[in-house]
Amino acid sequence: MSIKSLWIWIGTWMIAGSMLLIPFARGQEQTQAAQLPDGDAKEIVQTSCSTCHSLANITTSQGHTPEEWKTTMAMMVNVGADVPPKKVQMVTNYLTKNFPEKPGPAPVAIPGNVEVSFQEWKLPTPGTRPHDPLAAPDGTIWYSGHMANLLGHIDPKTGAIKEYHLNKPMSGPHGLVMDKQGNIWFTANFSAYIGKFEPATGKITEYPLDHKARDPHTPIFDQKGMLWFTVQGANMVGRLNPETGESKLVVSPTPKSNPYGMVVTTKGIPYFVEFGANKIASIDPETMEIHEYVLPNEAARPRRIAITPDDVIYYSDYGRGFLGQFDIKTGKMVKEWPSPSGPQSRPYGITIVNGIVWYSEAGVKPNTLVRFDPKTEKFQTWMIPAGGGVVRNMMHFADGKLVLTESGENVVALVTVKNGDKAAITAK
Ligand code: HEC
Repeated sequence: MSIKSLWIWIGTWMIAGSMLLIPFARGQEQTQAAQLPDGDAKEIVQTSCSTCHSLANITTSQGHTPEEWKTTMAMMVNVGADVPPKKVQMVTNYLTKNFPEKPGPAPVAIPGNVEVSFQEWKLPTPGTRPHDPLAAPDGTIWYSGHMANLLGHIDPKTGAIKEYHLNKPMSGPHGLVMDKQGNIWFTANFSAYIGKFEPATGKITEYPLDHKARDPHTPIFDQKGMLWFTVQGANMVGRLNPETGESKLVVSPTPKSNPYGMVVTTKGIPYFVEFGANKIASIDPETMEIHEYVLPNEAARPRRIAITPDDVIYYSDYGRGFLGQFDIKTGKMVKEWPSPSGPQSRPYGITIVNGIVWYSEAGVKPNTLVRFDPKTEKFQTWMIPAGGGVVRNMMHFADGKLVLTESGENVVALVTVKNGDKAAITAK
């Protein structure tokens, strides 16, 4: 298979696997192409934008602001869309004119006592698509540049941003996690490997996965130093021993369950959510046997997951617009709350700071930052100043500051919680 057709294959699969729910039939393509409005760039969009995914990505989207189309075009060119540099502006203009931002569900503002401030950095490479953030113990921020094949590093004190390009083209760096030595491990989402980046030397080590394990997704270490990861599209969960470099993969019992966000309990048991099903699952750290727990609502689509220090799980139900709480002892959903902006709010990136749940709603424009206090069951929300553009993940520093990746805006944000209850800002 040539690199190009391999990439097309990956792209095709990725879109189907990422719940955009687009059947990839030729006939359908043609119908969609026919729906493209006339204009100077119609033909080029028709041919160059339908090789990896359906044109429905464009025609049925909520539309974009001019700035967002510029960023989207940069992302697509970064990953290999065949648009000559001289034509990029023309295509961008065509898309901006014909697919402007449509009003979607409105973000719901819920006031409260907690004050936050946002610091946002526009990233140096257009179309980086910052996917996951990493709040490092030294107070600096790392991020994965999913569509620019790089890892980025921000020093919030100076605002300096440094980029580290990966060795393997089209790696698609996605999830990030730091080991005890300060090395950064990442999932190469387009290239089926796990990478280790050593900030001190810039050295990158690649650990290729079995070829069936395309789309490695969320990485996390357990207490013994084993690296666990979900593999969304291949419907698998994996374990890599960093000392030997050996990895082992197992298949999720539910077909097309799209293993997604993952956490590890205090007892060392990994739990993950199945974004393609209404299920949460645990995996035996020794045998790798998977046990699934069914959430009561069939339409639930848990996308990301977070855990308190006393092992209470919260998950963002992207499909239905809920925040859910799950008890690992009983294996049942305990309670769920409708997310402030409603059924289309698309709760996504989530983290927990000393019992307070923070997450973002990706289905509203601008995206929101949501704070939920389980003790009072009260929500408070803020609009993300740069828009969010789908906050795919978030993480917190020990002092309670949050780091957010605003993927479609090419922005990384740091959120400082100024007041409110002390519990939210005290390091554990
Ligand atoms: C080389 C493969 C490739 C080509 C060619 C391509 N795309 Fe994409 N596109 C992607 C990938 C990968 C994604 C992200 C899928 C995901 O992670 O959900 C994407 C997503 C999108 C999205 C959704 C926004 C987002 O951030 O997820 C839009 C809109 C889009 N593409 C437009 C275009 C346009 C316009 C063109 C033509 C100029 C194009 N694409 C050509 C690979 C491609």
